[in-house]
Amino acid sequence: MKKGQARKGLIVAIDGPAGSGKSTVTHLLSLKLGYTHIDTGALYRAIALRAIELGIPLADGAALGELAASSKLEFRERDQVLLDGRNVSALIRAPEVSMAASRISAHPEVRLALLGLQRRLGEKGGVVLEGRDIGTVVFPRAHVKFFLTASVESRARRRVIELEEKGTYLDFEEVKKQVVERDRGDTERKVAPLRRADDAIEIDTTGMTVEEVVARLEAEVVRRGKDFASASTT
Ligand code: DC
Repeated sequence: MKKGQARKGLIVAIDGPAGSGKSTVTHLLSLKLGYTHIDTGALYRAIALRAIELGIPLADGAALGELAASSKLEFRERDQVLLDGRNVSALIRAPEVSMAASRISAHPEVRLALLGLQRRLGEKGGVVLEGRDIGTVVFPRAHVKFFLTASVESRARRRVIELEEKGTYLDFEEVKKQVVERDRGDTERKVAPLRRADDAIEIDTTGMTVEEVVARLEAEVVRRGKDFASASTT
């Protein structure tokens, strides 16, 4: 192992609220480490998209759980998501899918149906998983855990820019309202709510550049990596 290089095989968990910069930094961190990036929110989004298409009520936990359990979800290179063989990577980023994903993720049936898949995707290590409950529920014994936060304003601003890059133009106040609403849903739900694991490193990314955040995370993974022998992580 070269000096300063992360050990292969670690499980890195990155949790945090919508717009905390998780996706961008997780992607870049995984490239730097040579790890696989697993965006678990994309799984909830794909199920939400399918529920909308099929007209399944977003309050029907049992039906949504069955939908999640019977759907085939796969990741391809460059963070592409396949749902039953169909590339839904662009469709799942629509604002209405964001809200629907937050709603369906409150159902225990849906969470349970997606839990096994997330563990299978990550158990071999060499992965950076991002989500809301990776460090608390999916991999409570992940080798390194981060919890990213940022002010509501800065998260809404990032979201507006992200959407604009994809050709969707929304009013800042409207996006801010959505961010606050999603936060409330994600943190107040009864099952696996968004919260920082006791042993997670919290980083407030407000005012930090992407490069600064990635450098901080990478340094921590490299440092922690030296301390670990291979251990069970679930
Ligand atoms: O990270 P994201 O914005 O793409 O996630 C979309 C929704 O999915 C989010 O509002 C909550 C839910 N989610 C979750 O409940 N647990 C995860 N591990 C990831 C996402």
